[in-house]
Amino acid sequence: MTDQTVRPPVRHFINLDQIPTETLQSILTNARELKAQKFSPPQLFAGLSLAMIFDKKSTRTRLSFEIAMKQLGGHTIVMTKDEMQLGGAESIEDTAKVLSRFVDGVMIRLSNHETVEELASYADIPVINALTDASHPCQIMADLLTIEEKLGDIKGRKIAWFGDYNNVAKTFAQAAPKFGFDLTVAVPPPLTPDKKNVATTITLTDDPIAAAKDADVIVTDTWVSMGQEGKQIDAFIPYRVTPDLMAKAKPHAIFMHCMPIHRGEEVTDDVLASPASVIYDEAENRLHAQKAILAWCFEHSGVNVQHK
Ligand code: CP
Ligand code: NVA
Repeated sequence: MTDQTVRPPVRHFINLDQIPTETLQSILTNARELKAQKFSPPQLFAGLSLAMIFDKKSTRTRLSFEIAMKQLGGHTIVMTKDEMQLGGAESIEDTAKVLSRFVDGVMIRLSNHETVEELASYADIPVINALTDASHPCQIMADLLTIEEKLGDIKGRKIAWFGDYNNVAKTFAQAAPKFGFDLTVAVPPPLTPDKKNVATTITLTDDPIAAAKDADVIVTDTWVSMGQEGKQIDAFIPYRVTPDLMAKAKPHAIFMHCMPIHRGEEVTDDVLASPASVIYDEAENRLHAQKAILAWCFEHSGVNVQHK
């Protein structure tokens, strides 16, 4: 006998450009709702379990997923790739199929983006990208939440990125056309990405002053992402975020950084200590965004965020 039930597609959260804008908007609305309920969290995830697989370090991502699941009544199991059979001979297909029999969702952080896509292709449960070398979608959802909290509607705003065109920058580039903001990326010439690899909707420049001019948001990240240790950083020095650079932006401009920060490298201490810096609100918003991302992924398990 065959199972005639037509099951809805599994909701993976891997890249923002694969997810409809209305869905992303509704996840942000739910994040605001769940943040408003942070002291009386609804037990939406009762009986649900999330596997959390790490092949790289993490503070914020691990904290936010684990606390999000637990505050909403769910469970987590944290594993490093090397502790699993996945770090040995077991195939990604078998790993995905076995995980699907034990837990209701999996978040995974590792270098190779294609591995996450492959895991998702075999999984019967949602797979969430918790950072790969290609993208960091959960971070950008928290960043969008933060920008709208601080500045209101993001549409038409100028966001200026400085330094490495890395996984976080590339995810901002995926979000820009969806949310209607202008993204200007200032990258040193030796590291300028090939134009064909950059969305046509973003402005690429090697001039940090021009990039900062009239920006609403100044954002940077480490010059050396995890796995790139030993990389030369001298070319990035003119792209450091300093008070002088901040002064080129709009008077209300905010400073953002996904953290961890290398103080004195990509940003100076005085910028971090200034009222423009929203880094800790941004870090906290990882929790609220994560709850809403998980709720969307788990909707087929009956999870539904109620608005008060
Ligand atoms: N921003 C971020 O993803 O931080 P962690 O590496 O600490 O998780
Ligand atoms: N670009 C950084 C982000 C860390 C959250 C990295 O990949 O190491």
